[in-house]
Amino acid sequence: MLSEENIKNKIHTSRCGRNIIYLQEVGSTNDYAKMVAHDEPDGTLVVAETQTAGKGRMGRNWSSQSQTGIFMSLILKEGIRPQNASMITLIAAMSVTKALDRLCKDEIESYIKWPNDIVMNQKKVCGILTEMRTDAENLEYIVVGIGLNVNNESFENTITDIATSIYIETKKKYDRADIIGLIMEEFERYLGLFLEYGNLAFLKEEYNRRLVNMNNEVKILRSCNEEYIAKSIGINENGELLICKDNGSVETVMSGEVSVRGVYGYV
Ligand code: BTN
Repeated sequence: MLSEENIKNKIHTSRCGRNIIYLQEVGSTNDYAKMVAHDEPDGTLVVAETQTAGKGRMGRNWSSQSQTGIFMSLILKEGIRPQNASMITLIAAMSVTKALDRLCKDEIESYIKWPNDIVMNQKKVCGILTEMRTDAENLEYIVVGIGLNVNNESFENTITDIATSIYIETKKKYDRADIIGLIMEEFERYLGLFLEYGNLAFLKEEYNRRLVNMNNEVKILRSCNEEYIAKSIGINENGELLICKDNGSVETVMSGEVSVRGVYGYV
């Protein structure tokens, strides 16, 4: 069972997660984090046992069964420029894969489906939803929401083909507070490097090695219903996805309201 004390005991960072708000039940940790961001310090982590209205990207919902998953949102208020906010999603994704390596790399590898999904065995194990508020040109806050399927034994019919959990892949149950601690540690490390260098050039190669669709054809779905197929050739230093079209031209795709799918299914 998660508890504030249990989580605090596993956090060994100085910024990310230095203040913990633990809630038994909440609509969405992202919404809660946005509501308190003004009054809570930078690095506050909101964690909930369950969410009644968990949100995904593009208006989707996020299934949030209690006792099984991690539902948390990190509030960042310092040092990030609004135009760099989308890069924070990629940093979060990389941090989760690194934490999963430390937990269970020998049993199962984790990959990234740009920009915000973590994939195990071709299925989604984690999603990230980054939201922000700016005041004129300055960032008021970024909220990085992470939903990770840890000990789920099954999923509802509608998502069973595309969702998985660490338990399903490894047949082992894990202490969720341990995983929260690992993610915060990795996040703090990558965030520090990002703030030092100012872009993602330092992460590009490592990230591209994790890209589930690297050098494969993907389907790009834009919110205006436009859809086309191109080859994914990795991210650039700004975290945009480079795609190569049939005629050989290379274009960049920004995360915004774009979905990337495999040509024949989820990856
Ligand atoms: C996605 O894959 O579309 C993003 C899913 C993000 C889910 C997490 S769970 C914790 C946080 N609170 C929310 O309401 N959403 C994020």
